[in-house]
Amino acid sequence: QVVGRGGGRAFGFEPIAAVPAEVDAVTVPQGFRWTPIIRWGDPLFDRRDTFDPNSQTAQKQARQFGYNNDYLDIIVEKNGREALLVANQEYTNAGIMFPPAADEEERLEQLRVSKAAHGMAVVELERGRKGDTWKYRVGGRRNRRITADTRMVFSGPAAGSDLLKTVEDPEGRYPVGTFGNCAGGTTPWGTVLSGEENFNGYFRATGTSPEHKRYGLSANASSYGWEAVDPRFDARQPGYENEPNRFGWIVEIDPENPDEPPVKHTALGRLKHEGANVSISRSGHAVAYMGDDERFDYLYKFVSTDRYKPGNSRGARAHNKTLLSKGSLYVAKFSGDSPLDEITGTGALPSDGSFDGSGEWVALMRDGESAVPGFTVEQVLVNTRLAADAVGATKMDRCEDVEPHPQTGRVYVACTNNTDRGKVGKEGATEVNPRNSNRDGHVIEITESHNDATSTRFGWSILLLCGDPSTNPNTYFAGFPADKVSPISCPDNITFDSAGNLWISTDGQPGTIGYNDGLFRVPLAGPERGRVQQFLSVPRDGETCGPVVHDEEGSVFVAVQHPGEEGRWAAQNSYFPDYIEPGALRGGKWGGPRPSVIQVTRA
Ligand code: FEO
Ligand code: CA
Ligand code: CA
Ligand code: CA
Repeated sequence: QVVGRGGGRAFGFEPIAAVPAEVDAVTVPQGFRWTPIIRWGDPLFDRRDTFDPNSQTAQKQARQFGYNNDYLDIIVEKNGREALLVANQEYTNAGIMFPPAADEEERLEQLRVSKAAHGMAVVELERGRKGDTWKYRVGGRRNRRITADTRMVFSGPAAGSDLLKTVEDPEGRYPVGTFGNCAGGTTPWGTVLSGEENFNGYFRATGTSPEHKRYGLSANASSYGWEAVDPRFDARQPGYENEPNRFGWIVEIDPENPDEPPVKHTALGRLKHEGANVSISRSGHAVAYMGDDERFDYLYKFVSTDRYKPGNSRGARAHNKTLLSKGSLYVAKFSGDSPLDEITGTGALPSDGSFDGSGEWVALMRDGESAVPGFTVEQVLVNTRLAADAVGATKMDRCEDVEPHPQTGRVYVACTNNTDRGKVGKEGATEVNPRNSNRDGHVIEITESHNDATSTRFGWSILLLCGDPSTNPNTYFAGFPADKVSPISCPDNITFDSAGNLWISTDGQPGTIGYNDGLFRVPLAGPERGRVQQFLSVPRDGETCGPVVHDEEGSVFVAVQHPGEEGRWAAQNSYFPDYIEPGALRGGKWGGPRPSVIQVTRA
């Protein structure tokens, strides 16, 4: 029995052994099985939008499930027989999605398909009764695709700013589309937040200003090539200079309202947003925790000016959907409590036995006004990284998912890795990022002062220093014996179960500890605290995303992102999830890799 603080009873499983990289299979514990719920290309609105990678069109793709799902939630309705699946579709990989284009027209259409395969999806699920596996409903009333071409609105202090105006939107209030949607979070009021992460790779820009340099915008042809079919992706062109400023935001969608435009919240700042997760403070304020996933970038939180209205009434929901439009934005500054010479850069513990200390949330914006000398509020929000540089925020090892624990309020930060730490000209190890060449990543636990989410002070400690303890002496599992845990590297997405345990999914293990990526459970309280146990492993080249744990039903969902990504069209690396003959197309199944959402249930 796993000890937690959530009140629920965690389900039992025998941890799986780590699976060597290149195994093209989903591995689950004995007594469990997995089934796909929905795959890239599955039709959402009409069965006639059949999937065929040899003849995809943008029009069809915009009506099908998109590519490379990252954030996932399965929101179950009261009757237990219906649910809403919400997924991010982060990016595409043309080299394994389609055959090489036969001519220029086909090449351009593949670029349009790529745009349509990005964004988000909302899909209705159903099942005969509680405990059955879920099936998705073609033509569900709330089914929805959001793509790189969906009309949206800006909210918050920078909406209407000159920095957001383009020739197509002279008001600077109506951005079009979302992409690079990585992790996210479902809010206490039932909407979903999605982080626009690596938006810079979609643009060709001048790349010469300090702002462009800080956000990685450059004059090179974009990674996706969309500028060939849509002029706004060439931000060197007159009228489109500000188009890149319209990405890098937190997007809120209401999955119950398929006709409502998604909202980009400028109050939450512009960065390479991994995601955002909200808790409600004792005082009733909405507090969003957010990471900027880049080496040496920062950890942020937003505190709403207005208070949350509990309940499911239409009025409460409408009010709560305005909470992220006005508030205070902070960036984290960490201090360690051990002498600097005890932080050796290897990950060896300092003499007080832990990497820990205190910290401060430094204000960048207070209730909609700039808190950074020399920056207007628009500059703080559009060029948030520069504002955070100016206040001396702590450089982190790539904050991925950041989530407050629903019962304890402690905040967990997955720092996935930072192989540049300690390199010539780069910052070296600090107590909160204690390894140079941090290949395997770590997880930080933050306790807000007085356990108040709105506090500007906090305490912190490192929960896990990841790695394979059989080959790395400097791993740490909250003091749990390292020879009794599953090896784990590159923590990325996180969630909690009803017993209060932390679940961690990984992205990058094949390149570090040589195992396929997976999903792990970690108790946070009691004698088992820090005991990492592996629940599943994804197929070759894949990243484990989502994850969603319905442990009261013994059920887990993950989004399998980029299976077979190192392959080529003519030599695919993965046949997940259908595993039929290479290249074959039968009854909606394909003999090639398809990013998919899967459900794991007791056999
Ligand atoms: Fe899309 Fe930071 O992972
Ligand atoms: Ca210490
Ligand atoms: Ca991620
Ligand atoms: Ca990732």
